[in-house]
Amino acid sequence: MKIKILGIGDVVGKPGRKIIQEKLPDFCRQENISFVVANGENLFDGAGITPKDANILQEAGVNVITGGDHIWNRREIIPHIAQTPTILRPANYPKKQPGSGTTVVELPSGIKVGVLHLQGRVFMNIQCACPFTTAEEELELLKLKTNVVVVDMHCEATSEKVAMGWWLDGKVSYVFGTHTHIPTADERVLPKGTAYITDVGMTGPYESVIGRRVDRVLHRMTTGMPARFDVATGDVRLCGAVATVDSNSGRAEGIERVVITGDER
Ligand SMILES: [Fe+2]
Ligand SMILES: [Fe+2]
Repeated sequence: MKIKILGIGDVVGKPGRKIIQEKLPDFCRQENISFVVANGENLFDGAGITPKDANILQEAGVNVITGGDHIWNRREIIPHIAQTPTILRPANYPKKQPGSGTTVVELPSGIKVGVLHLQGRVFMNIQCACPFTTAEEELELLKLKTNVVVVDMHCEATSEKVAMGWWLDGKVSYVFGTHTHIPTADERVLPKGTAYITDVGMTGPYESVIGRRVDRVLHRMTTGMPARFDVATGDVRLCGAVATVDSNSGRAEGIERVVITGDER
């Protein structure tokens, strides 16, 4: 059976949450999407994630929420993540942290989808274990349960994400990148059957500097003086990419970028 898996990039603040609520349910119905993974590290006012934010996404049809370097910005998530296997922190963070970097979800069709969340190390402020070794170790366990595995590779450097795509080609169904908030145009199915895109982009306001008000960022960048980086509001878009996957083999057959524009511009 063929299934369509949607990977959504960093959902930023209220504008991001709102467009997910307004646009995701219809899109999933119209496009027959079976499974949705969304990066939620910026859900709360641009940094962090609260249980309330997570519920909004999950009620709109997001099956699994991933995080990244902002995962612990809001302390409320700490007890919640420990009890909620569908919210992930990077798998290569210290093992003593609450939560997990992998999960397996069974769809109504009986198909099981595994999700693995990794963070890169190049140009990232947070120290973590080798994402390549962690991927190998975690996949040994995940592949005992299902052939269909989606990976959110959260990192700054395009090179590290591209390398992870090749490392996982033929081992997982779909690798999508997050964190830079800028969509890339390199979606493709790699030779051994893994759908890949370096960054699916941000779900939030594009009249901004990666989600924050242009005037505030320009002030800080041009004067070196402090400024509050409030979340912007204009030109809201939902950005992601849909991979079509054979659920028996786990091989991807296609990948398409998605940009859904909001009603107010
Ligand atoms: Fe982000
Ligand atoms: Fe990030």
